[in-house]
Amino acid sequence: MVAVDGPSGSGKSTVSRRLAAALGAQYLDTGAMYRAVTWAALASSIDPQDAEAIAKVAGEIDLEVGTDPDAPYTRVDGTPVDRAIRGPEVTGAVSAVAAVPWVRQLLVAQQRKIIGAAARIVVEGRDIGTVVAPDADLKVYLTASAAARARRRSEEYAADLSATAADLDRRDRFDSTRSADPLQRATDAVVLDTTELGIDEVVARLRAMLDGRV
Ligand code: C5P
Repeated sequence: MVAVDGPSGSGKSTVSRRLAAALGAQYLDTGAMYRAVTWAALASSIDPQDAEAIAKVAGEIDLEVGTDPDAPYTRVDGTPVDRAIRGPEVTGAVSAVAAVPWVRQLLVAQQRKIIGAAARIVVEGRDIGTVVAPDADLKVYLTASAAARARRRSEEYAADLSATAADLDRRDRFDSTRSADPLQRATDAVVLDTTELGIDEVVARLRAMLDGRV
């Protein structure tokens, strides 16, 4: 099992999916799960700051995630939400939802079940190496300069660069300073700065580490 953590725009998703496909492993995007709970809350007109109401929604929905790296999906009560959870409304509210301890407890339990049932799996998030799977075979912490991360995200979403940079900065600060399972590098994680590295290079390095070649 491989844990990939890091801030937004560090290359986590692309690297994790490619690595999983190359290994013939499953792939779990835990950020999509927090986004799906956020989507469900917004769909019910719940204030993302209302922790009690958010926790209730998280407990009530049926959240399904597909772990094929070539075709991952997220469904809430049977409805595909893959596109909606990447929109600005969800992105603007997700950090508040992810800071609610009960939401984290529920999702971490679901993530551990998925991990436990998989023969091989690459899991990406913020707290995988520290909380969800502290005994992962390989823990990776991806970083990149703030400028590179903002550029990647704005290209990916065809969004304005300065607004994207401001959003990333806000979310990273919030995610790193919340009291419940903040974004943190596991002390035994391999740190890779992807500012100057292409995706292929990062994936190749991780494969070499898994093969014991490094
Ligand atoms: O990775 P992504 O940007 O989709 O994650 C969205 C948000 O979900 C993050 O900003 C963070 O607030 C939350 N998250 C989390 N723990 C994880 C994965 C994501 O708190 N393991």
